[in-house]
Amino acid sequence: MRLWPSRANQRISPKKIEITEQSIAGPRAIAVSSGKGGVGKTSISINLALCLAKMSYRVAVFDADLGMANAEVMLGLAPRYSLYDVLFGNKRLDDIIVQGPGGISIISGGSGFLEMANLNQDRRQKLIGMLNMVNNYYDFVLFDTAAGINKNVLGFVAAAGEVIIVATPEPTSLTDAYALIKVLSCFNVHSEVHVVINRAANELEARRTLEKLQFTVGRFLNTRINNLGWIPEDKTVSQAIKKQNPFFLAEPSSAASRGVAGIAGCLTNTTPLIQDKGFWGKLVSLFG
Ligand SMILES: Nc1ncnc2c1ncn2[C@@H]1O[C@H](COP(=O)(O)OP(=O)(O)OP(=O)(O)O)[C@@H](O)[C@H]1O
Ligand SMILES: [Mg+2]
Repeated sequence: MRLWPSRANQRISPKKIEITEQSIAGPRAIAVSSGKGGVGKTSISINLALCLAKMSYRVAVFDADLGMANAEVMLGLAPRYSLYDVLFGNKRLDDIIVQGPGGISIISGGSGFLEMANLNQDRRQKLIGMLNMVNNYYDFVLFDTAAGINKNVLGFVAAAGEVIIVATPEPTSLTDAYALIKVLSCFNVHSEVHVVINRAANELEARRTLEKLQFTVGRFLNTRINNLGWIPEDKTVSQAIKKQNPFFLAEPSSAASRGVAGIAGCLTNTTPLIQDKGFWGKLVSLFG
């Protein structure tokens, strides 16, 4: 089922809406990223989206792990189309937005952005126009990126107004998180980043992990770390992934769900770092 979300749950046809500069309020565009792979980005993106939706925000998760579709698999969805079909298959953006559980929407990047360099200027402009329509329908767009420091990941992180860096207490995860923050600082991409510590044994371990990162970043970089919270090691996370049913829906009172609720509370209490409604255009030009 494909539809655009609204607080009142009614269908809205994007065709009926006239887009003007003033009507574009601009969602908070947040990249969820990490230095090391497998630290919980996809699972945090989805469950955070569900928690924000429960708080009555309109939320889309953009699967920016190009070609991997992990977000869809975790939700038990099999989107037929991705951004690639918008670029080359005459699909409209509303054809590829899939309604997930809990009122969230999923936009599948597929390999679309990798093909951006092959588009002429006209088609790029048309795409930016279509993507800007998303601004009218969502309060939050979460970009679930791949891990590591490469052109694709940095493209999404640079275009998004905010970035959440996910790290675990493992030293390799922390050094890789630092490396990513350093690149963002060197290229003047983000001078402030949100951090979530995942898979901590307890609150003390989460706090010590954050302090280690804050200490190193504070010593060598000018980046400010905004602590969003932590999620404990919790077996309900992998059980939920196996059942393709997000833990925030399957086990709302689990320790992991409480962690996600804390992160959502902190995020919504934080003033957006950058309110930039032009991030789609930036994204297209960075990939083009
Ligand atoms: N809080 C947690 N408690 C227990 N297990 C967890 C937790 N968070 C994540 N995991 C486990 O870690 C694995 C990787 O999670 P996920 O796929 O969300 O990571 P990722 O950062 O998106 O990975 P990739 O870099 O490959 O995209 C999951 O299979 C899940 O079982
Ligand atoms: Mg992932």
